Amino acid sequence: MAHNRLDQIVGTIVESVRDAVKSQDITFEEYRAAIGYMMKISESGELPLFIDVFLNAAIVDVINKNAHPSASPSDMEGPYFLDNAPVVSDGRIKTLDQYQGDQPMIVRGTVRDIDGAPLGGVLVDMWSSTPDGKYGGIHDGVPVDFYRGKLKTDAGGRFEFRSTVPVAYRIPDSGPTGALLEMMGRHSWRPAHVHLKVRSEGYRELTTQLYFEECPYVRSDCCEGIIPSKFVYPEIVENGARILEADLVIEPDRSARAAA
Ligand code: BEZ
Ligand code: FE
Repeated sequence: MAHNRLDQIVGTIVESVRDAVKSQDITFEEYRAAIGYMMKISESGELPLFIDVFLNAAIVDVINKNAHPSASPSDMEGPYFLDNAPVVSDGRIKTLDQYQGDQPMIVRGTVRDIDGAPLGGVLVDMWSSTPDGKYGGIHDGVPVDFYRGKLKTDAGGRFEFRSTVPVAYRIPDSGPTGALLEMMGRHSWRPAHVHLKVRSEGYRELTTQLYFEECPYVRSDCCEGIIPSKFVYPEIVENGARILEADLVIEPDRSARAAA
């Protein structure tokens, strides 16, 4: 019998890997090659990316399985969230001038509780990629305070960000994570998406993503996440800006209540 939760979890993982070794007749050479590849991933600094590509969607499944039925579906946080995004009270997220012809995007909506009451003063973070798939503060040439920002909802629970439309992007195959996907015969594309994180005292944190209907990878994300149809948006344009309107529902934090 397991001594504790850690023993139970690590024991189960090790047992699953042992089963895979046996069922796939893995040779000692393949085993050594796997260790070498893990070293390469670690040395490249891609360990968070690698783990998120293969496992973040499973964590999301667990979150959604345990969520209140009225709560908005969660989605992957991925490796590019930074908690020090600038406050953008006016909703204007900084974008770079170098991308000629990028399309403006408005991401707006309302945060409510599970009874439908609008929630004011809720912290909403938004982050998305440049029009060539880079993240502020992560990739070269994009400062940390660009393409990400946070604000609080107004008394009616409403929020509105202004940025530019992101694109589908490839997890770089110059790095070992993308290269592994390619070697496996898979593609390394993520559909174009916008990340949101919603936080308010006494409520369960919601991390989710919004998608674009016309993006082909919305049906074949390399991370194999289940993309909720309510967050896949048709092409609605107002004054040249692509509109994504998200009604978000957050639930009381049951763990906080239990601990109190
Ligand atoms: C992302 O959305 O940025 C992401 C998520 C999972 C793995 C890699 C990237
Ligand atoms: Fe992303």
